[in-house]
Amino acid sequence: MAADALKTPTALKTPSDLQTNATKTVAEALNGILADSFALYMKTKNFHWHVSGPHFRDYHLMLDEQAAEIIAGTDDIAERVRKTGNTTLRSIGDIARHQTVKDNDAAFVAPDAMLGELRDDNLALVTTLREAKDLADAAKDNATSAMIDDWTDQAERRAWFLFEAGRTG
Ligand SMILES: [Fe+2]
Repeated sequence: MAADALKTPTALKTPSDLQTNATKTVAEALNGILADSFALYMKTKNFHWHVSGPHFRDYHLMLDEQAAEIIAGTDDIAERVRKTGNTTLRSIGDIARHQTVKDNDAAFVAPDAMLGELRDDNLALVTTLREAKDLADAAKDNATSAMIDDWTDQAERRAWFLFEAGRTG
């Protein structure tokens, strides 16, 4: 990525008492979480649309609930970046450059594999959130730290539901 893409244009410098370098590190972590949220939203919708089999209705509805929760969180993540004087994602291309959640473009995915993959993606997001919380705490950014707690709880809940729904015994 070009270096100037990471610099906040003067006109977009929101005033903040937090240290600029520290908030920039937190913002970079939040932008990664934002990209992963969009990627996870898309994959959850993809599986909502393409799920098949005897548990179709249960899985179809659960995945829609989870996708709605993920997309609802994205605005708060992006606005937290802006509140601390930094800039956030601007495009689908920007998402692709920042995401660590892998896309799944397979023509067919078995329903148990869908649940397992999403469970692992949500647990990986939990790990990323814990790392971001350490950065927020180091930056004394208590508001971001508290919001990360909520996002972590939601991701853990999704992983729990995906685990239980996918159990065979
Ligand atoms: Fe739908």
